[in-house]
Amino acid sequence: MSIKRIAINTGGGDAPGLNAVIRSVVLAALNRGWECLGILDGYNGLLYPEAYPHGWYRHLDRDSVRGITHLGGTIIGTTNRGNPTSFPVQGPDGTWIEVDRTEEIAAALRAEAIDALIAIGGDGSLSIAHALAERGVRVVGVPKTIDNDLDETVATFGFDTAVAFASDCLDRLHSTAESHQRIMVVEVMGRYAGWIALFAGVAATADAILIPEIPYDIHKVADKVRQRDEAGRKFSIIVVSEGAKPVGGEFTIIGKQIGQAERLGGVGHKVGEALQQLCGKETRVVQLGHLLRGGTPTATDRLLSLRFGAAAVRALAEGYANVMVALDPPTVRYVPLEKVAGRMKTVPLDSDTMLTARDLGISFGD
Ligand code: F6P
Repeated sequence: MSIKRIAINTGGGDAPGLNAVIRSVVLAALNRGWECLGILDGYNGLLYPEAYPHGWYRHLDRDSVRGITHLGGTIIGTTNRGNPTSFPVQGPDGTWIEVDRTEEIAAALRAEAIDALIAIGGDGSLSIAHALAERGVRVVGVPKTIDNDLDETVATFGFDTAVAFASDCLDRLHSTAESHQRIMVVEVMGRYAGWIALFAGVAATADAILIPEIPYDIHKVADKVRQRDEAGRKFSIIVVSEGAKPVGGEFTIIGKQIGQAERLGGVGHKVGEALQQLCGKETRVVQLGHLLRGGTPTATDRLLSLRFGAAAVRALAEGYANVMVALDPPTVRYVPLEKVAGRMKTVPLDSDTMLTARDLGISFGD
């Protein structure tokens, strides 16, 4: 089937590089003579039409993607609420049930004569993309997330920027930690995978890194701080992934709302309080949170985003559908969406970055 009109959408938490992907998709599409539409705010314009009196998409021409490669965020908006595969609706008796609204989206795309969809997102968005593909939509996914937890791709865009920023913060915290002889606990995002904590922690020479893949024993972390004190290094930097949990313990959860994934956060404070007590040292906790998602993408992320966007358009032009573009150095290949949807890539404990960290004497609290 020849392509005349495609749509693009961004879903889930934003990540640096989204706008670079959008620019790349739009230019690669326009250069093939295709028209390109941007679906607003995930699929919100379709799911909540009353809130979008001017329609659920906007036309993307060359002017609309000028000068955006280096900008954080997404010019077409995003959301991590209201998953159309399990959309929450309140029944007459007040109870909430989940309904599948993907057919409505597929029908709306057909009605607008949209031949294909490029869906940029993390695991949730790519699972939605897969569900739409099963309803006959020609879809290509682009892997986005600062968490780097998507399977089948060596990297997602956004991750490098998050790691670079986190390591910069750790560098800055070193001098204040040393001046005050304090423990600095730095909590980073990453959901149930410790990629950001591990990469930033190793790059910025943290003393301990706590990741979801290795439940920690706080006494082992305290031992590390004490050993440093005895060696005359009177400060310590502890990086904690938001998904870290103690041996035999649970994740630290901020809350869960209907139609939204569980929100993690706050484990850094637990770790900080425990270390202050166990080590008798002044401790401060810094939660980097959404700062990791903002700002200018690094050159590495920009390039990856531009490569992913153009590859997604090439995939469509070559007749592929129901695939995701994936980094497999030195190339970008296409992998079936079904191999990605619902899967999570955690840190392999025998990976060389883990081994490097252990060789350098970094504690994982185990
Ligand atoms: O998936 C990206 C991410 O930033 C996670 O690291 C974090 O747990 C989550 O999104 C936060 O989501 P929200 O924007 O809803 O606070």
